[in-house]
Amino acid sequence: MELKRFVGQVALVTGAGSGIGQACALRFAQEGARVACLDVNDAANESAAAACQAAESEAITAHCNVADPDSVKAAVEAAMSKWGRVDILVAAAGIYSGSPLVEVPLKQWQRLIDINLTGVFLCNQAVAPIMMAQKSGSIINISSMAGKTSWPASAEYSASKSGVIGLTRSVAMELAPYGATANAICPGNTLTEMVKHVASQVAPRDGVSPEEWLQLRANDCPMKRMAEPWEIAGVAAFLASPDSRYMTGQALEVDGGMVMS
Ligand SMILES: NC(=O)c1ccc[n+]([C@@H]2O[C@H](COP(=O)([O-])OP(=O)(O)OC[C@H]3O[C@@H](n4cnc5c(N)ncnc54)[C@H](O)[C@@H]3O)[C@@H](O)[C@H]2O)c1
Repeated sequence: MELKRFVGQVALVTGAGSGIGQACALRFAQEGARVACLDVNDAANESAAAACQAAESEAITAHCNVADPDSVKAAVEAAMSKWGRVDILVAAAGIYSGSPLVEVPLKQWQRLIDINLTGVFLCNQAVAPIMMAQKSGSIINISSMAGKTSWPASAEYSASKSGVIGLTRSVAMELAPYGATANAICPGNTLTEMVKHVASQVAPRDGVSPEEWLQLRANDCPMKRMAEPWEIAGVAAFLASPDSRYMTGQALEVDGGMVMS
């Protein structure tokens, strides 16, 4: 059955140029939404928008650094001036860094927090008044299994992703009286450029090839495989759909059973 749940709606997706954000942009386009693709990587963002258009959706791109309030404001205004509404926000833009605690340079900590946590805050803050005025809307913030559990040498990443869960709950409380929802998704290892990049950096330290490292990470979870980005996008679509109207402030583990195990 082909679902078209978002005809007439507008979805804003940050980090749309790659991985989970790109899969979400395409999924919302396939289901009939008009999509604003936001990313710092213009070339990747353009190809994501082209894929949305190939799915017969309207799509625009905005060069947007989620850590910069003016950049976020301009991107949201671009979508508003084109379509006059925002029904869905997927805040997927993010980066990964990690070092043993005593070696984390303050700049590395701050850069990641600026993008992964402040970036989500700024995007939520920019769309919330629009959704309140519309009396509808769905915010979907991409956290991580690292927001629910932790491992060594991931202080800033884990802190940012736990922060996204707390932020999402507070936003959910403020939006609830207006009929809008805010939920987080906590993906497990998902096969994207981010994970491949981490593999290429960390595998030599562990004495294995990047491919072996990826397989080891896949084996960490009960399903013994990584997620594909479209498997995260499917849950984002559910969270934007009427089927989840009474669900807010939740942080869903979409991780092949990793955290519960
Ligand atoms: N891949 C995983 O295993 C995994 C697991 C859990 C959570 N996540 C989270 O999912 C989200 C997407 O990750 P991914 O794996 O698809 O990564 P990815 O590297 O494939 O894509 C991230 C995208 O974000 C963009 N981006 C980076 N900094 C930006 C900024 N300042 N402003 C705007 N765009 C920016 C990049 O250009 C890129 O297109 C991230 O928040 C990540 O932390 C990923």
